[in-house]
Formats: sequence, C-alpha cells, structure tokens
Amino acid sequence: MGPQVYIDSVGAHVGETVTLKGWLVNRRSSGKIHFLLVRDGTGFLQVVMGRSDIGDEVFATADHLGQETAITVTGLVRADARAKGGFELIASGLTVVGASHDYPITPKEHGVDYLMDRRHLWIRADRQTAILKVRHEVINGIRDFFNGEGFILADTPIFTPAACEGTTTLFPVQYFDDTTAYLTQSGQLYNEANAMALGKVYAFGPTFRAEKSKTRRHLTEFWMVEPEMAYATLDDVIALAERLVTAVVGRVLDRRQKELAILERKTTTLEAVKAPFPRLHYDEAARILLDKGLPFEVGGDLGGTDETVLSEQFDRPVCVTHYPAAVKAFYMKPDPEQPDRALCVDVLAPEGYGEIIGGGQRLDDYDLLLQRIREHDLPPEAFEWYLDLRRYGSVPHGGFGMGVERCVSWVCGLEHVRETIPYPRMLYRLYP
Ligand code: 4AD
Ligand code: MG
Repeated sequence: MGPQVYIDSVGAHVGETVTLKGWLVNRRSSGKIHFLLVRDGTGFLQVVMGRSDIGDEVFATADHLGQETAITVTGLVRADARAKGGFELIASGLTVVGASHDYPITPKEHGVDYLMDRRHLWIRADRQTAILKVRHEVINGIRDFFNGEGFILADTPIFTPAACEGTTTLFPVQYFDDTTAYLTQSGQLYNEANAMALGKVYAFGPTFRAEKSKTRRHLTEFWMVEPEMAYATLDDVIALAERLVTAVVGRVLDRRQKELAILERKTTTLEAVKAPFPRLHYDEAARILLDKGLPFEVGGDLGGTDETVLSEQFDRPVCVTHYPAAVKAFYMKPDPEQPDRALCVDVLAPEGYGEIIGGGQRLDDYDLLLQRIREHDLPPEAFEWYLDLRRYGSVPHGGFGMGVERCVSWVCGLEHVRETIPYPRMLYRLYP
C-alpha cells in the first residue's frame, strides 16, 4: 500500500507506488489486461491491470465490477503521453470498498428529464464536475474581488416581511401561527442599510423568484452577489460591475483551463472580456432592435430575445442604461435630466447570454421614495425602516446584483442554467 494520492497530483509521483481512492467509471479488457478508468473527484485516471502483475483472483474480481463501484487501487505511477492527462497507474493491488450494480446513468445518451431525476448521480459525470468546479472558481473569484476592494461581507435575511422586486414573484412561508413571511428576492434593501453603516458592503446568498417562467435563464432559487456602496453614482456602479466581471472571467481563464477544455468552451470569446465595456442608452438599444426588425415596443422592458440580439452585437459584455422608470423597481433613482428614466444598468453577457447583472443608483429622496412606494401599491408601513435611511443622513448610493448561475452558464458556454448549480429548483423541478 502506497500513500493516498489524489488524481490531480499523480504527476508529482511518477515512479512511486501510491493508492488511489475512488470509483470505477468504466472498464475495457483485452484478455490479459484490464483498463480501468477511475475517478476520485479531482480527476480521471486510467489504471492498467495486468493479469500476471496482479494475480488471477483479483484479475477475475476486476472483471465483474459494475460502473461506479467504489475501489481503492495501489500501483506505480507512470508517465505516458498516450494516456488521457499524461499519466497512468500500473496496478498491483485492488480493494472493493462499495459495490455498485446497474448504475442508471450509462455512457449512452439519456434525456434531460431522466438525468435531472437522477441529478444526485449525474453530478459525478466529468462535464458536470467541470461545471461545478467553474462555479466554485466564479464564487471564489467574486469573494476575492470584493474582499480585495475593501468591501465588507454583511449578510441579509432570507425570511423577509415584504417584497423587494415586485409583489407577484414571492414565495410565501408560514412563519409561526399568524404571520406570513416571504423568501427574499434580493437582499438589496437591507444591503442599503448595511452600506450606510459600513460604506462598501456585499451580500452573497440564495434568492428566490416565484415567476412561473420556463426559460433557460430562470431558476426559482439562485445565488446572487450584491454589492452596495454609499456615496456612489451610476457611473461608479457601472465601473464596479466592469471590474468584477473582468476579474471573474480572468480568474476562470487562469485557473480552470482543464475544465473549460472538458466543456469544449471556446475561450477566445472569454479572452475578449476586457474593460471598457460598451455602454448603450436604452434608446439606442431600442433603435438597434427596431432596425433588426424585432417586434420591440419602445417604452417596455427588454425581453429575453431582445437581450440575446443586443448581446450578440458586441464581443464583450454591454451595459444598457436608462430604462424607462415605469418598467423598473420602485427604488430606482430617476435621471434628473430625463425623469421618466431610471439611473439603472443591466449588463448583458456576450454570445446571446443576456442579463447577468442588474442594478443602479437608488432613490435617496424621502418624499419621492414614499410616493413610489404608494404608486407601486406597496404597504408603506412595511418600508418604515427603509424610509429611515432617507430620514437620517441620506446620501447618493447604488449597487447591483449578479446572478452566479447566469454567470457560470455564460462562462461555461451552456444551453441552460439548470446545470450550473448542484440541485436546480425550477417550475417543475423540486426533486431530488
Ligand atoms: O435584475 P435583478 O432582479 O436585480 C435585483 O434583484 C436587484 N435588487 C439587485 C441589486 O441591485 N442589488 O437580479 C439581479 C441578477 C440578474 O441580473 C440575474 O443575473 C440574476 O440576478 N437573476 C436570476 N438568475 C437566475 N434565475 C432567475 N430567476 C434570476 N433572476 C435574476
Ligand atoms: Mg434585472
């Protein structure tokens, strides 16, 4: 028995006898030799098992192992240019730790529903582990970025008494005997209070949306990072979004080439993600859409198709600003030069991925904020604490939210957000 080594570091053990602890992915045999493909979470490695090296008994055992049997294998690490990854293990010992029979996900093609019903097993596949490692990198890239810029992580509640983004998209939860709480759609309002206490803050957690949407960009539960800055304008918010997105994409390119290769992601488009990002006033965006012959109604919000078309016009993310205030949330500050417009920004990812960031400058005037709360039919008493921020030392401020799954979906080049989180929650998906 050699020391346990993880597959991603076998390269440092060439010529040594080591032990791998993992699972059998598949097996080929040529009478006297078995080729076992083993995975251990860190990677995949071919194990070469010769009958004469290992003995008849173990050789016969290995011949009957089902896919996903948990095994430990001892052997000599050898560099071999022909092997995937450049190394293989010449086995001298095998132990079966946990049997596996009739594993339901075979190398043949399965439909998405079939795989989603077995998501707890599907995540073992090499494409899925690659996506989850990119997700890990994106999340750590986000944290390191904000920590490096002096932002303080200040969390916001998940149970909330009222809406943030609009009342129709909330999940109600029975909160003890006589109260209804709602799962948060965004930590923003609390984040604004935190920014008045700490200057520059970010919240990072799960958020919930109850729209009955079935699009490839929609999850009912997703992770959002939300920075908020006191004494900030729309320009500051856009500049921050630009720095965040370039930092996160750069980090994945630096550290996750192997995973991007497994995903067959074309990296040239990611390498083009450099500041400055183009800025597009809503009116220019509308003109592009109309020129392209899209049935766009000026004054309305951009739909999924509109975003796709716009984001395909640029080789890097584009910042669309100054949407009509009427289609945006109540807390947006109107543009003093064009009061029917909001000082807001949506960042659309290239290659048709659409909105990954939404944010802007917040309404900091007490009277106008109260008026907006009433116009949006929101209960003013639920927002008393939020109005306090405008009563006691109100300052210009702003921030945004970036959806982790939309970002991962774009960076990985995926068709649908459902593969970017271990257990996606969607309109018709609450299992497993
Ligand atoms: O544009 P949204 O709704 O903005 C807010 O919630 C603001 N209160 C954030 C803020 O300013 N602090 O959502 C922000 C981002 C979107 O750009 C998108 O990336 C993601 O959250 N997002 C979703 N991701 C997956 N599934 C959904 N249903 C999403 N809805 C929003
Ligand atoms: Mg939005």
